[in-house]
Amino acid sequence: LFGFNTNKVTGFFDPIDPSMEDELVLPKNFKYDVVAAFDDIINPAGEKFGQGADYNAFFPIEGSNTRGLLVTNHEYTNIFALGPVADSGPTKKQIEQSLYYQGMSVTEVYRDEQGVWKLDPTSKYARRITGFTSFDITGPAKGTKVLGNATKAQGTFANCSGGVTLWNTVLSCEENFEDLAGQAKLPETHYGWVVEVDPFEASFRKKHTALGRFNHENTAMGIAKDGRVIVYMGDDKKDACVYKFISKGKYNKASGRANSALLEEGTLYVANLKVGKWAPVTIEAVKEVLSSDNFKNPYGVSGTKEELQKKFTSQADVVTYCHQAALLVGGTPTDRPEDIEISPFDSTVFICHTNNDIHGNIHGHITRIFENNDDLGSLEFNFEIFAAGGRQSGFSSPDNLAFDSNGNLWVVTDISTSSHNKGVYKSFMNNGLFVIPTSGNNQGQALQFASGPKDSELTGPYFTPDEQTLFISVQHPGEMTTDLKNPTSTWPHRKGDKKARCGVAAISGFKLGL
Ligand code: FEO
Ligand code: CA
Ligand code: CA
Ligand code: CA
Repeated sequence: LFGFNTNKVTGFFDPIDPSMEDELVLPKNFKYDVVAAFDDIINPAGEKFGQGADYNAFFPIEGSNTRGLLVTNHEYTNIFALGPVADSGPTKKQIEQSLYYQGMSVTEVYRDEQGVWKLDPTSKYARRITGFTSFDITGPAKGTKVLGNATKAQGTFANCSGGVTLWNTVLSCEENFEDLAGQAKLPETHYGWVVEVDPFEASFRKKHTALGRFNHENTAMGIAKDGRVIVYMGDDKKDACVYKFISKGKYNKASGRANSALLEEGTLYVANLKVGKWAPVTIEAVKEVLSSDNFKNPYGVSGTKEELQKKFTSQADVVTYCHQAALLVGGTPTDRPEDIEISPFDSTVFICHTNNDIHGNIHGHITRIFENNDDLGSLEFNFEIFAAGGRQSGFSSPDNLAFDSNGNLWVVTDISTSSHNKGVYKSFMNNGLFVIPTSGNNQGQALQFASGPKDSELTGPYFTPDEQTLFISVQHPGEMTTDLKNPTSTWPHRKGDKKARCGVAAISGFKLGL
């Protein structure tokens, strides 16, 4: 297919400078088309594209690189969907709007004969998955007391990043679910999971409790040398952990989507960076720690030994209160683990640690894990800091990752909007998209490929299989707006429109063979 030739990285685009423009700025000879933006009608039923566009995945229709289903996550809602929210909290109507505009969209997109990417509103596949859509619960917490005996959950929301499976479905991650669950008076334990949907079949909707409940950022799926399925996951909180799920059964390509059952049974592990080991997050391990005479609680999990023994009596409890269980069994608190990608070249694992001001890690870093024997199923590893954010490397606060076939890592940044163009973040200006080679002379050096509109963050980079198109979300442009008459951004600058609309851009201009 393509060689692993990082010398070409500097050849295929002229890096841009940081920008303060209210525009998606690209290198010369590249262009973008907005395929879907907030509130666009996506199907004949009149359903609307959600807000807070984040993760994207493209599924070719009949092998096409120019027509397919685009699955997009919708992470949160803001003033452009809800109008101003009173200090006393959102109204009932605003809560319902949040449940509707969060979740996911499946849209059908295509490139027309003029080379313009568009949405097809006549699609038979296009649909919304919202905070009202029912999901089947699977795994150890299904039907148990800790979930109120539930076998189904209402809706998904706060969908951040995600990942595709080996069997052509999408995993979508419920991240900061607490606020909306509380406002909507929904049972909080029903959220904070990884959900799975099939873009081509609307009835397939699962919440997989075996993957744990926390502030899920992403999934990155691979295969162990013995054929078991591996899923790496980040918990995007300050001082939270990195996880790896290993399925009990083995992947069988011929089984197609039935492989989804692999996500219902297996072992969840947490990274102990002090000793380079994956520690099992199981009820057996938690009980053993809590029954020890010299029980230590090095990371200060709240509760006495006796209270924790009462709290953790089954694997359902462990997956539901996963962060606490992980710390008890030796998981290392880290600096906000966001996206994770497995290198398609050498099976090393890249993790964005976006930042953590508690420890003075203001610009964040990208960690690279080397599993023993290059086996993703290994329970021992080594690691290094692959790239550190800061003035010298040219990026700050790394978030989502994607690989191209030349071994370049595409990295978007998430400097919080209130810090844009201020203090130590000043030189970075608006958030952007960077290209970092993972081997060769330029290894670890970031070149800027794109800059987002005002107050935005670029999220969910995803290439078509031929790498001629890069989909990317423009999330929360104009989010500092307090007066709808004076928005801080009006991207995508539709004629006569005074709203900033998050949405998905299709970037083209890549030369064949990069
Ligand atoms: Fe939703 Fe962790 O970014
Ligand atoms: Ca993120
Ligand atoms: Ca982030
Ligand atoms: Ca975000």
